[in-house]
Amino acid sequence: MHLQIERFSDELEDMMKTMYNYPFRNGLIKVNGFTMPGTYEKSADAIENFQVRDDDVWACSFPKTGTTWMQEMVWCIANDLDYERGKVPLTERFPHLDLSTRADFSAIVKANPEIHIPREMVDSINYTANLPSPRFIKTHLPFNLLPRQFRTGEKRPKIIYIVRNAKDTCISYYHFTRILEGLQGSFEDWCNLFLQDAVMYGPFWKHALGYWEKRVEKNLLFLKYEDMKQDLPMIIKKTATFLGKNLTTDQLSSLTEHLSFENMKANPAVNNEHLIYGIKKLTQSKVDGKFMRNGEMNQWKSEMSPDIIERFDQWTRENLKGTRLYF
Ligand code: A3P
Repeated sequence: MHLQIERFSDELEDMMKTMYNYPFRNGLIKVNGFTMPGTYEKSADAIENFQVRDDDVWACSFPKTGTTWMQEMVWCIANDLDYERGKVPLTERFPHLDLSTRADFSAIVKANPEIHIPREMVDSINYTANLPSPRFIKTHLPFNLLPRQFRTGEKRPKIIYIVRNAKDTCISYYHFTRILEGLQGSFEDWCNLFLQDAVMYGPFWKHALGYWEKRVEKNLLFLKYEDMKQDLPMIIKKTATFLGKNLTTDQLSSLTEHLSFENMKANPAVNNEHLIYGIKKLTQSKVDGKFMRNGEMNQWKSEMSPDIIERFDQWTRENLKGTRLYF
């Protein structure tokens, strides 16, 4: 595939330079209209030619929209609630395909042997490619950057996409980037980057709409974080039907319990603390905080100023006009 690479305006570039303290990524670039790490091009061919399997299950999302929550739900349903095997870290059971596009982790590991970076992160593409079937694969890639076999329709594995209210996603992403990457600058600065599509994997709505447009296909299930919050058993049932599984009433209530925020926060297999520990050593971030941070809807009501709320709402209205995707 011919990739169209663009740079940001000088003004945005300068802003990003002062905010990002992450020396390994080589900045951010636009690839086919999406904001990606400067190191992305190196892995672009491997992703484009990645061999998809029809019995794969793919979890796709924009960052901070509840991906981990959805992944754990999907994995447990597909694996008949095998909580014993579920003790293996989710990052190994359900690896993130495009993680190693974010930096040259092999070089980093060589130069810093004291920093532990999990193997599924160092070379996430090969790690994922070599898993036995059925594979469970997470990606934040927009639809137009997925492996070619998706776009040609040659392979049709199951895809579950999750989206979340843009304002809460932006808040969650801000805290996450501060904790993991030592992001500098105010929350308002971050909102400005978000609204200008200058955060990794943006534009947010274009990302969601790329999958939303495919929702008529039988192999795609489109979920909302807010629906999981409001009626988790209903979403579990819907996902089970999509995956061709039947859950008993007892299984449904046990999984609902397993997926509660408190239980996931306490579960070392899914709370991502091991990953955060390694990455923070790398970025030397001094900001404390958890991946399982808040887990609530409508955080924007207390965390955003009326002016920013209005800008987000206006931007959302413009982007979703005529799409039948409602927020
Ligand atoms: P907050 O930062 O708002 O708390 P992702 O997995 O896509 O990175 O999304 C992370 C967000 O999902 C975080 O949001 C996290 O707390 C939330 N989350 C994870 N597990 C959850 C659960 N069981 N219930 C509710 N929210 C959950």
